[in-house]
Amino acid sequence: MQEHYILSDGFKIPKVGFGTYQLNGYDGVRRIEQAISAGYRLLDSAVNYENEGAVGRAVKNSGVSRDELTVTSKLPGRYHGYQDAVNTIQESVLRTGLDYIDLYLIHWPNPIEDKYVEAWQALVDAQKAGLVRSIGVSNFLPEHIERLEKETGVLPVINQVELHPFFNQETQRAFDASKQIITQAWSPLGRASAVLKEQTIVDIAEKHKKSIAQVILRWQVQLGVLPIPKSSSIVRQEENLNLFDFSLSEEEMAAINQLMKQDGRRKGQDPAVYQEF
Ligand SMILES: NC(=O)c1ccc[n+]([C@@H]2O[C@H](COP(=O)([O-])OP(=O)(O)OC[C@H]3O[C@@H](n4cnc5c(N)ncnc54)[C@H](OP(=O)(O)O)[C@@H]3O)[C@@H](O)[C@H]2O)c1
Repeated sequence: MQEHYILSDGFKIPKVGFGTYQLNGYDGVRRIEQAISAGYRLLDSAVNYENEGAVGRAVKNSGVSRDELTVTSKLPGRYHGYQDAVNTIQESVLRTGLDYIDLYLIHWPNPIEDKYVEAWQALVDAQKAGLVRSIGVSNFLPEHIERLEKETGVLPVINQVELHPFFNQETQRAFDASKQIITQAWSPLGRASAVLKEQTIVDIAEKHKKSIAQVILRWQVQLGVLPIPKSSSIVRQEENLNLFDFSLSEEEMAAINQLMKQDGRRKGQDPAVYQEF
Protein backbone atom coordinates (compact mmCIF):
# COMPACT_ATOMS: atom_id res chain seq x y z
CA MET A 1 0.00 0.00 0.00
CA GLN A 2 2.63 2.58 1.09
CA GLU A 3 5.49 3.35 -1.27
CA HIS A 4 8.95 4.51 -0.14
CA TYR A 5 11.81 6.85 -0.90
CA ILE A 6 15.43 5.90 -0.24
CA LEU A 7 17.36 8.60 1.61
CA SER A 8 20.93 9.45 0.61
CA ASP A 9 22.14 7.74 3.82
CA GLY A 10 20.53 4.51 2.61
CA PHE A 11 17.49 4.42 4.92
CA LYS A 12 14.01 3.76 3.53
CA ILE A 13 11.28 6.28 4.32
CA PRO A 14 7.53 6.23 3.53
CA LYS A 15 6.27 8.55 0.79
CA VAL A 16 3.59 9.95 3.11
CA GLY A 17 3.99 10.74 6.80
CA PHE A 18 1.78 11.96 9.62
CA GLY A 19 1.92 15.51 11.06
CA THR A 20 1.32 15.74 14.80
CA TYR A 21 1.23 19.49 15.48
CA GLN A 22 -1.52 20.15 18.07
CA LEU A 23 -1.89 16.47 18.97
CA ASN A 24 -0.83 16.48 22.61
CA GLY A 25 -1.33 14.60 25.86
CA TYR A 26 -3.43 11.43 26.18
CA ASP A 27 -5.84 12.56 23.47
CA GLY A 28 -2.81 13.05 21.22
CA VAL A 29 -1.53 9.55 22.06
CA ARG A 30 -4.91 8.11 21.06
CA ARG A 31 -5.05 9.96 17.74
CA ILE A 32 -1.43 9.14 16.86
CA GLU A 33 -2.08 5.48 17.70
CA GLN A 34 -5.08 5.66 15.35
CA ALA A 35 -2.83 7.03 12.64
CA ILE A 36 -0.34 4.20 13.09
CA SER A 37 -3.17 1.67 12.90
CA ALA A 38 -4.39 3.42 9.72
CA GLY A 39 -0.96 2.63 8.22
CA TYR A 40 1.26 5.67 8.87
CA ARG A 41 4.86 4.70 9.56
CA LEU A 42 6.46 8.16 9.66
CA LEU A 43 5.53 10.52 12.52
CA ASP A 44 6.54 14.18 12.53
CA SER A 45 7.09 15.81 15.91
CA ALA A 46 9.23 18.65 17.30
CA VAL A 47 10.46 19.93 20.63
CA ASN A 48 8.24 22.99 20.08
CA TYR A 49 5.07 20.88 19.59
CA GLU A 50 5.53 19.64 23.16
CA ASN A 51 4.34 16.20 22.14
CA GLU A 52 7.45 14.03 21.83
CA GLY A 53 6.11 12.13 24.84
CA ALA A 54 2.76 11.48 23.15
CA VAL A 55 4.50 10.29 19.98
CA GLY A 56 6.81 7.96 21.90
CA ARG A 57 3.91 6.51 23.89
CA ALA A 58 1.85 5.94 20.73
CA VAL A 59 4.82 4.11 19.18
CA LYS A 60 5.10 1.88 22.27
CA ASN A 61 1.34 1.22 22.41
CA SER A 62 1.04 0.54 18.69
CA GLY A 63 2.43 -2.97 18.65
CA VAL A 64 4.21 -2.10 15.40
CA SER A 65 7.85 -3.12 15.47
CA ARG A 66 10.14 -0.20 16.27
CA ASP A 67 12.24 -0.58 13.13
CA GLU A 68 9.17 -0.14 10.92
CA LEU A 69 8.50 3.35 12.31
CA THR A 70 10.28 6.60 11.53
CA VAL A 71 10.00 9.04 14.43
CA THR A 72 10.97 12.64 13.68
CA SER A 73 11.78 15.52 16.00
CA LYS A 74 13.22 18.98 15.51
CA LEU A 75 15.65 21.24 17.31
CA PRO A 76 14.18 24.68 18.16
CA GLY A 77 15.98 27.95 17.44
CA ARG A 78 16.62 28.76 21.10
CA TYR A 79 18.97 25.76 21.36
CA HIS A 80 21.29 26.25 18.38
CA GLY A 81 24.42 26.72 20.52
CA TYR A 82 26.45 23.47 20.35
CA GLN A 83 26.08 22.30 23.96
CA ASP A 84 22.42 23.36 24.14
CA ALA A 85 21.78 21.37 20.98
CA VAL A 86 23.54 18.27 22.35
CA ASN A 87 21.49 18.45 25.56
CA THR A 88 18.24 19.06 23.68
CA ILE A 89 18.71 16.05 21.39
CA GLN A 90 19.39 13.86 24.41
CA GLU A 91 16.29 15.23 26.18
CA SER A 92 14.19 14.58 23.04
CA VAL A 93 15.25 10.95 23.07
CA LEU A 94 14.48 10.68 26.79
CA ARG A 95 11.07 12.34 26.37
CA THR A 96 10.05 9.87 23.67
CA GLY A 97 11.00 6.99 25.94
CA LEU A 98 12.62 5.39 22.88
CA ASP A 99 16.25 4.36 22.49
CA TYR A 100 16.83 6.63 19.51
CA ILE A 101 15.03 9.07 17.18
CA ASP A 102 14.98 8.13 13.51
CA LEU A 103 15.11 11.57 11.95
CA TYR A 104 16.24 14.76 13.68
CA LEU A 105 15.92 18.13 11.93
CA ILE A 106 16.98 21.71 12.67
CA HIS A 107 13.53 23.35 12.79
CA TRP A 108 14.47 26.77 11.32
CA PRO A 109 17.86 28.15 10.21
CA ASN A 110 17.44 31.50 12.02
CA PRO A 111 20.12 33.08 9.80
CA ILE A 112 20.20 36.40 11.68
CA GLU A 113 21.12 34.57 14.89
CA ASP A 114 23.49 32.53 12.67
CA LYS A 115 24.24 29.51 14.84
CA TYR A 116 22.82 26.82 12.60
CA VAL A 117 26.23 25.41 11.64
CA GLU A 118 26.97 24.81 15.34
CA ALA A 119 23.59 23.16 15.70
CA TRP A 120 24.30 20.98 12.67
CA GLN A 121 27.59 19.82 14.19
CA ALA A 122 25.62 18.69 17.25
CA LEU A 123 23.26 16.67 15.01
CA VAL A 124 26.26 15.12 13.21
CA ASP A 125 27.75 14.13 16.57
CA ALA A 126 24.43 12.78 17.89
CA GLN A 127 24.20 10.61 14.79
CA LYS A 128 27.71 9.26 15.43
CA ALA A 129 26.70 8.52 19.03
CA GLY A 130 23.68 6.53 17.84
CA LEU A 131 21.08 8.85 19.40
CA VAL A 132 19.59 9.75 16.01
CA ARG A 133 19.59 7.69 12.84
CA SER A 134 19.21 10.23 10.02
CA ILE A 135 19.74 13.99 10.16
CA GLY A 136 18.17 16.77 8.20
CA VAL A 137 16.89 20.32 8.20
CA SER A 138 13.66 22.25 7.91
CA ASN A 139 13.01 25.59 6.24
CA PHE A 140 16.57 25.76 4.88
CA LEU A 141 17.27 27.78 1.73
CA PRO A 142 19.98 26.70 -0.75
CA GLU A 143 22.51 29.13 0.77
CA HIS A 144 22.02 27.59 4.24
CA ILE A 145 22.48 24.04 2.95
CA GLU A 146 25.54 25.03 0.93
CA ARG A 147 27.08 26.46 4.07
CA LEU A 148 26.48 23.24 6.03
CA GLU A 149 28.17 21.30 3.26
CA LYS A 150 31.11 23.68 3.05
CA GLU A 151 31.74 23.97 6.80
CA THR A 152 31.00 20.41 7.97
CA GLY A 153 31.17 18.26 4.83
CA VAL A 154 27.84 16.67 5.78
CA LEU A 155 24.63 17.20 3.82
CA PRO A 156 21.13 16.77 5.26
CA VAL A 157 19.05 13.89 3.87
CA ILE A 158 15.73 15.75 4.26
CA ASN A 159 14.62 19.37 3.96
CA GLN A 160 11.11 19.95 5.34
CA VAL A 161 9.56 23.13 3.91
CA GLU A 162 6.17 24.81 3.51
CA LEU A 163 4.77 23.30 0.33
CA HIS A 164 1.22 23.26 -1.06
CA PRO A 165 -0.36 24.27 -4.39
CA PHE A 166 -0.13 28.01 -3.56
CA PHE A 167 3.60 27.67 -2.77
CA ASN A 168 5.14 24.80 -4.67
CA GLN A 169 8.83 25.43 -3.97
CA GLU A 170 9.97 24.70 -7.52
CA THR A 171 13.44 26.24 -7.06
CA GLN A 172 14.03 24.74 -3.62
CA ARG A 173 12.91 21.29 -4.85
CA ALA A 174 15.34 21.41 -7.75
CA PHE A 175 18.16 22.44 -5.41
CA ASP A 176 17.31 19.70 -2.89
CA ALA A 177 17.18 17.09 -5.66
CA SER A 178 20.59 18.21 -6.95
CA LYS A 179 21.99 17.33 -3.49
CA GLN A 180 20.02 14.04 -3.18
CA ILE A 181 17.91 15.65 -0.43
CA ILE A 182 14.26 14.56 -0.15
CA THR A 183 11.90 17.55 0.18
CA GLN A 184 9.18 17.07 2.79
CA ALA A 185 6.03 19.21 2.66
CA TRP A 186 4.74 20.86 5.82
CA SER A 187 1.18 22.21 5.77
CA PRO A 188 0.73 20.09 2.62
CA LEU A 189 -3.00 20.90 2.71
CA GLY A 190 -2.32 24.56 3.48
CA ARG A 191 -3.65 23.76 6.94
CA ALA A 192 -7.13 23.34 5.48
CA SER A 193 -7.23 26.88 4.07
CA ALA A 194 -8.53 28.25 0.74
CA VAL A 195 -6.46 25.73 -1.19
CA LEU A 196 -9.06 23.07 -0.32
CA LYS A 197 -11.66 25.09 -2.25
CA GLU A 198 -9.56 25.79 -5.33
CA GLN A 199 -11.72 25.11 -8.41
CA THR A 200 -8.91 23.65 -10.55
CA ILE A 201 -8.34 20.97 -7.92
CA VAL A 202 -12.07 20.44 -7.32
CA ASP A 203 -12.48 19.61 -11.03
CA ILE A 204 -9.54 17.17 -11.04
CA ALA A 205 -10.84 15.50 -7.87
CA GLU A 206 -14.29 14.99 -9.40
CA LYS A 207 -12.74 13.38 -12.46
CA HIS A 208 -10.78 10.86 -10.40
CA LYS A 209 -13.55 10.39 -7.79
CA LYS A 210 -11.04 11.35 -5.13
CA SER A 211 -11.12 14.10 -2.50
CA ILE A 212 -9.40 17.46 -2.97
CA ALA A 213 -6.94 16.56 -0.23
CA GLN A 214 -6.08 13.31 -1.99
CA VAL A 215 -5.40 15.12 -5.27
CA ILE A 216 -3.11 17.63 -3.53
CA LEU A 217 -1.19 14.90 -1.70
CA ARG A 218 -0.94 12.78 -4.86
CA TRP A 219 0.43 15.85 -6.73
CA GLN A 220 3.12 16.14 -4.04
CA VAL A 221 4.06 12.46 -4.26
CA GLN A 222 4.30 12.71 -8.06
CA LEU A 223 6.60 15.73 -7.63
CA GLY A 224 8.86 13.47 -5.55
CA VAL A 225 7.89 15.26 -2.34
CA LEU A 226 7.01 13.66 1.00
CA PRO A 227 3.87 15.26 2.52
CA ILE A 228 3.11 14.96 6.24
CA PRO A 229 -0.62 15.82 6.55
CA LYS A 230 -2.04 16.13 10.04
CA SER A 231 -5.52 14.97 10.90
CA SER A 232 -7.24 14.25 14.18
CA SER A 233 -9.92 12.16 12.47
CA ILE A 234 -9.46 8.50 11.58
CA VAL A 235 -11.54 8.98 8.43
CA ARG A 236 -9.31 11.78 7.12
CA GLN A 237 -6.15 9.99 8.30
CA GLU A 238 -7.10 7.02 6.12
CA GLU A 239 -8.16 9.27 3.25
CA ASN A 240 -4.78 11.08 3.28
CA LEU A 241 -2.92 7.79 3.01
CA ASN A 242 -5.03 6.35 0.25
CA LEU A 243 -3.09 7.85 -2.67
CA PHE A 244 -1.56 4.94 -4.48
CA ASP A 245 -4.43 3.65 -6.63
CA PHE A 246 -4.63 6.60 -9.04
CA SER A 247 -2.31 9.01 -10.79
CA LEU A 248 -2.51 12.51 -12.21
CA SER A 249 -1.80 13.18 -15.87
CA GLU A 250 0.93 15.58 -16.98
CA GLU A 251 -1.76 18.16 -17.80
CA GLU A 252 -3.31 17.82 -14.35
CA MET A 253 0.12 18.16 -12.70
CA ALA A 254 0.81 21.28 -14.80
CA ALA A 255 -2.58 22.79 -13.90
CA ILE A 256 -1.85 22.40 -10.18
CA ASN A 257 1.70 23.75 -10.64
CA GLN A 258 0.16 26.89 -12.11
CA LEU A 259 -1.67 27.70 -8.87
CA MET A 260 1.63 28.93 -7.41
CA LYS A 261 1.54 32.50 -6.04
CA GLN A 262 4.67 34.49 -5.25
CA ASP A 263 3.11 35.49 -1.90
CA GLY A 264 1.52 32.08 -1.42
CA ARG A 265 3.14 31.26 1.91
CA ARG A 266 0.38 30.95 4.52
CA LYS A 267 1.96 33.40 6.94
CA GLY A 268 4.75 34.91 4.88
CA GLN A 269 7.40 32.99 6.83
CA ASP A 270 10.42 33.50 4.57
CA PRO A 271 13.36 31.60 6.11
CA ALA A 272 15.77 34.29 4.84
CA VAL A 273 14.37 36.69 7.45
CA TYR A 274 11.82 34.88 9.63
CA GLN A 275 13.20 33.40 12.83
CA GLU A 276 11.53 31.01 15.25
CA PHE A 277 12.81 30.09 18.66
N1 LIG B 1 8.81 22.38 9.91
C1 LIG B 1 7.94 23.32 10.14
O1 LIG B 1 8.30 24.50 10.28
C2 LIG B 1 6.48 22.98 10.20
C3 LIG B 1 5.51 24.01 10.21
C4 LIG B 1 4.17 23.63 10.25
C5 LIG B 1 3.82 22.29 10.30
N2 LIG B 1 4.77 21.31 10.32
C6 LIG B 1 4.42 19.87 10.35
O2 LIG B 1 3.60 19.60 9.22
C7 LIG B 1 2.42 18.92 9.66
C8 LIG B 1 1.26 19.21 8.73
O3 LIG B 1 1.03 20.59 8.61
P1 LIG B 1 -0.21 21.35 9.31
O4 LIG B 1 -0.67 20.58 10.49
O5 LIG B 1 0.24 22.75 9.50
O6 LIG B 1 -1.30 21.41 8.18
P2 LIG B 1 -1.98 20.41 7.11
O7 LIG B 1 -1.54 19.01 7.37
O8 LIG B 1 -1.78 21.02 5.79
O9 LIG B 1 -3.52 20.57 7.45
C9 LIG B 1 -4.07 20.11 8.65
C10 LIG B 1 -5.51 20.61 8.68
O10 LIG B 1 -6.21 20.03 7.58
C11 LIG B 1 -7.34 19.30 8.06
N3 LIG B 1 -7.42 18.10 7.22
C12 LIG B 1 -6.60 17.02 7.25
N4 LIG B 1 -6.94 16.12 6.32
C13 LIG B 1 -8.00 16.64 5.66
C14 LIG B 1 -8.81 16.18 4.58
N5 LIG B 1 -8.56 15.01 4.01
N6 LIG B 1 -9.83 16.97 4.18
C15 LIG B 1 -10.06 18.16 4.76
N7 LIG B 1 -9.35 18.65 5.78
C16 LIG B 1 -8.30 17.90 6.23
C17 LIG B 1 -7.04 19.01 9.51
O11 LIG B 1 -8.24 18.93 10.23
P3 LIG B 1 -8.60 17.65 11.16
O12 LIG B 1 -7.45 17.46 12.10
O13 LIG B 1 -9.87 18.01 11.78
O14 LIG B 1 -8.72 16.50 10.17
C18 LIG B 1 -6.25 20.22 9.93
O15 LIG B 1 -7.10 21.31 10.24
C19 LIG B 1 2.24 19.48 11.09
O16 LIG B 1 1.31 18.71 11.83
C20 LIG B 1 3.64 19.42 11.58
O17 LIG B 1 3.98 18.08 11.94
C21 LIG B 1 6.10 21.65 10.27
